[in-house]
Amino acid sequence: MIEVDALSKTYSGVPAVEDLSFSVAKGEILGFLGPNGAGKSTTMRMITGFLTPDRGTVRVGGYDVVREPLAARRKIGYLPENAPVYEDMTVQSYLDFIARIRGFGGAQRKKRVDATMARCFLGDVRFQTIHTLSKGFKQRVCFAQSILHDPDYLVLDEPTDGLDPNQKHEVRQMIREMSVHKAIILSTHILDEMEAVCTRAIIIARGRLVVDETPERLRTRSPLHGAVSLSLAPCAVDELTARLQGVEGVDRVALLAAEGTGVTLRVFPRAPEVAIAEGIVRALGIGPFHIRSLFVEKGRLDEVFREITQTPPSATAH
Ligand SMILES: Nc1ncnc2c1ncn2[C@@H]1O[C@H](COP(=O)(O)OP(=O)(O)O)[C@@H](O)[C@H]1O
Ligand SMILES: [Mg+2]
Repeated sequence: MIEVDALSKTYSGVPAVEDLSFSVAKGEILGFLGPNGAGKSTTMRMITGFLTPDRGTVRVGGYDVVREPLAARRKIGYLPENAPVYEDMTVQSYLDFIARIRGFGGAQRKKRVDATMARCFLGDVRFQTIHTLSKGFKQRVCFAQSILHDPDYLVLDEPTDGLDPNQKHEVRQMIREMSVHKAIILSTHILDEMEAVCTRAIIIARGRLVVDETPERLRTRSPLHGAVSLSLAPCAVDELTARLQGVEGVDRVALLAAEGTGVTLRVFPRAPEVAIAEGIVRALGIGPFHIRSLFVEKGRLDEVFREITQTPPSATAH
């Protein structure tokens, strides 16, 4: 496990991380979310032992990162922000250098380097100098560095930042494949990414933890969760809304657009868990309305994120 307990860090009097506590177990991929400046990178640097906390502790696989740094670091792989790598080295010599630092020697070192290059699809560029690589490949080299020693714990700071959609997909795939035997923390401000990859989400704002739950549950905080969005062929709007308003469980009907081409509206249930889709279909099925599309909103993560991270902490505490 990675256990973070009451972690705090202040930069010249300004708190960056305040009293942060959480833990991550093997098999979990924890999404670490928050707006720019929320304290994500600061927290990750403290977890990986690159920054000393002012208060609080971090234990990685049972080892205290400050008091037993070597033992802790052996178990951690760290992909820092902006993929810092030695630009003048070739891919292979850089990874060989990392393997040497990690204590691998002889045939085992070569095997490690080869296996890691294969895993990160770096075989074709192994003899290329790193500064000649594209951003995506540099990121891959840095990723390779972080997993070379097959660590139990992986800390990835914005691992897909600056990559194109195909590269993002590849990196996410690698993360998912590795997650079975590892505990992974990854920071991101891309909500779709968090939902696609993570089993759990933590949101921090102004250095403090405001949410710790599954991505699905996070979605249910959206005011849209459970609402039914409808689009229909042109029709008598008043009659339509009156009919919808009469459906069992419906609270209100919001008209989004009524044009010559059609009508779009959203129907809100009395409470998110009240199912209204079937009642709507039944009420409109008898005509004269023609339904073009109907779906139940799962909720919008970006909305939830904005709500949680922009309002003062006292307003979100519930
Ligand atoms: N080395 C530093 N010196 C002073 N302030 C810093 C330093 N690093 C980060 N900060 C500040 O700490 C806060 C958290 O930053 P950071 O952890 O990088 O946030 P995030 O990764 O979530 O964007 C920000 O207000 C940032 O300006
Ligand atoms: Mg950061």
